[in-house]
Amino acid sequence: MSQAPSRTVVVLAAGEGKRMKSATPKVLQPLLGRTLLGHVLAVAQAIKTDRTVVVVGHKADQVGGFLAGAAPEATPVLQAEQNGTGHAVRIALDATPELSGTVVVLSGDVPLLRAETVEALLAAHERAGAAATVLSAEVDDPTGLGRIIRDADGNLSRIVEQKDATPEQRAIREINSGIYAFDAVLLREALGKLSTDNAQGEEYLTDVFGILGGQGHPVAIEVAEFAYETYGCNDRAELSRLRVLMRDRINDAWMRSGVLLLDPATIWIDATATLEPDAVVDQNCQIRGNTTVARDAVIGPDTTLIDTTVGEGAAVLRTHSIGAQIGPAATVGPFSYLRPGTRLGRKSKIGGFVEAKNAELGEGAKVPHLTYVGDATIGAKANIGAGTIFANYDGVNKHHTTVGEAAFVGSDTVLIAPVEIGPGAYVAAGSAIAKGVPAGNLGVTRAQQRNIEGWVARKRPGTVSAEAAERAGDSTPDQE
Ligand code: UD1
Ligand code: CA
Repeated sequence: MSQAPSRTVVVLAAGEGKRMKSATPKVLQPLLGRTLLGHVLAVAQAIKTDRTVVVVGHKADQVGGFLAGAAPEATPVLQAEQNGTGHAVRIALDATPELSGTVVVLSGDVPLLRAETVEALLAAHERAGAAATVLSAEVDDPTGLGRIIRDADGNLSRIVEQKDATPEQRAIREINSGIYAFDAVLLREALGKLSTDNAQGEEYLTDVFGILGGQGHPVAIEVAEFAYETYGCNDRAELSRLRVLMRDRINDAWMRSGVLLLDPATIWIDATATLEPDAVVDQNCQIRGNTTVARDAVIGPDTTLIDTTVGEGAAVLRTHSIGAQIGPAATVGPFSYLRPGTRLGRKSKIGGFVEAKNAELGEGAKVPHLTYVGDATIGAKANIGAGTIFANYDGVNKHHTTVGEAAFVGSDTVLIAPVEIGPGAYVAAGSAIAKGVPAGNLGVTRAQQRNIEGWVARKRPGTVSAEAAERAGDSTPDQE
């Protein structure tokens, strides 16, 4: 059996992207869970390359730092001055001598491209036995892009840049996507012949097609099935259009896989998140980062989940969650805030206006209302009353609170960590608990209540309160 020819991906990412008007380089702008470059690298990974070379230049330190963290398999190569796309690829090949096989060139700012489309380009390239194949697309507005010039037989004769094109050529709507497959050896030879004799004084990679074709090597065109996959972006308005296109594509794919999205135009799911069939997402939700949502879970409306795990059949309503694990059949919200390290057991409950951080709730435990739970372990079936505060911070250090199984903490309690409430213990409402409460005990720290008889009649005569008290006579509740 013959070995498959090697594949090298070269990603062009040295340009500045001035029109983004951002301190962040264009290729590092975020788009639904990844940077623009991150999306392109995900394609490179999916098509099984033997090596990936990324040409960096503008803010090379920042882009290189991103690569080291997000794609350590990719090799950055520095193009110190951006003298054109041909120059960029030449520098990439100089860094990989002895290269043979196929070179795939991708653009760091074309994030909607799918691996399937690159596979189709490679298949066309191999079928034609071509020296070079360009991915083209038919677009409504080709302004600014290179045009595909075909000969009388419909074969590629060359690619002309907007700035070098005649009015007739500018009327052509078939454009160069900037995505190509090349024979590595022939590409290297042709790059050595590039000139800068053009409107921009740059080395144009596109001139390789004219050079190779002129030498009698076959050059080919693969027309993209979906033109929008080839869209790049130059400013934030264009980036926002790509974001909508990607959102719709991601949402369509999840709906086709069995997820119910109730209002897809208001649901934003990162490319990195996953949902199981029969999960439901209501209006106005963001499902971000490495979030996973299991079957029959109901998310939203108005919920943001970041790096959150949602178990089967859980319900999360009007909630902001980051770094939390929500167990099967647990319920959260409305109006709650889950922070990193929150782990909610099966059928546990976080109700309205609760903030939780680094807190574990056992199976069936409940924190129904208006509570801060920081650095705590709450046992199964325990119940935390409304307005309870887990006071975890002494101004210098954080401390842990443990509430035992089936313990009952009355409303408006402060649990001053470190402290432990034993299994089955009770805490009286309104207590400030700094000492442990052993299993089965009642902890209470309230002062005794004292009622002063006739105080309102003496001190607030003539008020509506005094009148109401007078009407009530001595029908008021008995004092203990
Ligand atoms: C290029 C093509 C054009 C095509 C268009 C598609 C050439 C000469 N023209 O246009 O036919 O329609 O892409 O978007 O190739 N880059 C570098 N180093 C450089 C120059 C560019 O790394 O010296 C990178 C950019 O960061 C970007 C990509 O190459 O990722 C394309 O560059 P850009 O300037 O956007 O494209 P054009 O050269 O205008
Ligand atoms: Ca340019």
